[in-house]
Amino acid sequence: MPSPHAHAPLRVMFFCLGNICRSPLAEAVFRHQVAQRGLAERFVVASSGTSDYHVGEAPDPGSQRVARERLGLDMSHQRAQQLQPAHLRECDVLVAMSASNIKNARRLDGGREATIALLRDWEPSAALQGLDVPDPWGYGSDAFAEVFEIVERCCARLLDDLIHEPPRPF
Ligand code: 4NP
Repeated sequence: MPSPHAHAPLRVMFFCLGNICRSPLAEAVFRHQVAQRGLAERFVVASSGTSDYHVGEAPDPGSQRVARERLGLDMSHQRAQQLQPAHLRECDVLVAMSASNIKNARRLDGGREATIALLRDWEPSAALQGLDVPDPWGYGSDAFAEVFEIVERCCARLLDDLIHEPPRPF
């Protein structure tokens, strides 16, 4: 049966430094929000890190725990990968967790013009827009809880925007 949608799914890539704490959590939460709105077929959601430090590893236990406790999500199958130049060319939306992530990605970009956004530009409160998602690596569950709150509220607004003003038809 032909798809009811004319275009390929929108490809969304979240990225951070290690791809074990922040961006895998954003991937899981955003995918959950997409599914809750019945849009699973219209998005391909992934995450990566600008470094290769943790390639092949499962998400940090802190991220896995908060995703399970807050939303019942199982992140144990996710594996860290490094952000590649091909991702910058092929993804429709690239969402960094921090300004330094963007700087690192620009090095990979070879000066090209990939559209890279910062997750907290979708903060509901203007006073919080433009801030980094704090790196919780090596900190306790409070740090992961804070990251979860940020990711959940910003991803919801990102999804609203992508639905209402997609970067291309999908
Ligand atoms: P993430 O957290 O970028 O949110 O995955 C980090 C994970 C590992 C390191 C730094 C941040 N590290 O330096 O190995």
